[in-house]
Amino acid sequence: MIDSQKHLIERAKHARSLAYAPYSNFQVGAALLTEDGTIFEGCNVENSSFGLTVCAERSALLSAVSQGHRAFKAIAVITQTNPPASPCGACRQVLAEFAPNLPIIIASTDGQIAETNLSDLLPMQFRLK
Ligand code: THU
Repeated sequence: MIDSQKHLIERAKHARSLAYAPYSNFQVGAALLTEDGTIFEGCNVENSSFGLTVCAERSALLSAVSQGHRAFKAIAVITQTNPPASPCGACRQVLAEFAPNLPIIIASTDGQIAETNLSDLLPMQFRLK
């Protein structure tokens, strides 16, 4: 694991500390690295109308895109799950819009780390063109 990957996990850990997850008690943090080296953090934000919950990965992506970034190099996601949890199907599709083969680092709070990528997690991606 190289230093930049470790750093991205640390940023995801920080994002996780801000998670708003009173209903599931499952806190998720994400850190999305842009082509120019900027890192956008995101956490899950739940709602008492459960279906309105926003995942950490989409939170990070929407924040980045809203600030003018559309090219991404990697995302790190951290949860309390061992083995580390990977992004849900909805997040995979939303990430694929901008980064079809995004490298993905999944980590758990007890130190487990695995690496994968979006084309493995979401093969035959839907797109309009
Ligand atoms: N969650 C994420 O933040 N990312 C995922 O990829 C899957 C699930 C959140 C949503 C909800 O707040 C909690 O984890 C339990 O599902």
